[in-house]
Amino acid sequence: MNFRTFAIGLTASFGLAWLAVVVVPFFKMRDIAPVAFQEGIDPQSGIYHPKTSGRVVNGYQVYAENGCYQCHTQVVRPTYAGNDLGRADFAGIKDDPDRGDTRRESNPFDYKGLDYAPVGVSRNGPDLMNYGRRLLRAHPTDAEQYLYRRLYNPRFDPAVSWSNCPSLPFLFEKKEIMGQKSDHAVEGKVKEGFEIIPGPKARALASYLMSLQHDDAVPASMNYAPAPTNPEG
Ligand code: HEC
Repeated sequence: MNFRTFAIGLTASFGLAWLAVVVVPFFKMRDIAPVAFQEGIDPQSGIYHPKTSGRVVNGYQVYAENGCYQCHTQVVRPTYAGNDLGRADFAGIKDDPDRGDTRRESNPFDYKGLDYAPVGVSRNGPDLMNYGRRLLRAHPTDAEQYLYRRLYNPRFDPAVSWSNCPSLPFLFEKKEIMGQKSDHAVEGKVKEGFEIIPGPKARALASYLMSLQHDDAVPASMNYAPAPTNPEG
């Protein structure tokens, strides 16, 4: 083999993989067209085109800046690639009192409106694709406040005193208490007469985390792993 063949072989090996894994998916997914619900097949009508926007996108930026994706995934894998649909609360809710089984795989719309899909690097901590659902179920009345306490110091919750999830005190502000204490103040070391309250970034991040509820009904044409209609089957 001469150098020329070697160079062509090397380019082809990496180039073909790059085309198939990067270029083709990029052009297929960069501008996805809305998908229609079909009459007679889907229980609802209209078109499916969810998009993340506003303050939630600001929160996503805080999530990205702080490297949360290093330890948290945000993808419910298709069943051929892993059994995420079977993992409690990752994919949705198995028996939602109002909506039944809401578990589903992730789809490109789950990331629409974001610069990058935060699919994540490792699952050191739990997948967060449906974290908002879990949080609201566990803390129906004080979800936001629980989240601020956990962002300030995840180990405040005795159930996870072992956690290596980072604390984010730099997203909080120390403020003199004027009159009443703020509803969102968290506990921490602070001078008498002062309180620790979430700053704009902590508030945006909390909105983002609470918005992570990716278990809405998708058109049947996009649902490759539909929940069994017959509970026995
Ligand atoms: C070093 C790895 C690591 C990094 C980086 C990390 N986490 Fe975690 N995270 C964990 C682990 C482990 C858990 C599970 C224990 C717990 O609840 O604290 C967890 C749990 C969580 C939970 C609760 C999930 C649930 O289902 O109850 C949230 C919310 C969370 N992390 C948010 C974040 C955010 C926001 C960031 C970025 C600022 C982040 N994590 C970065 C390791 C990490």
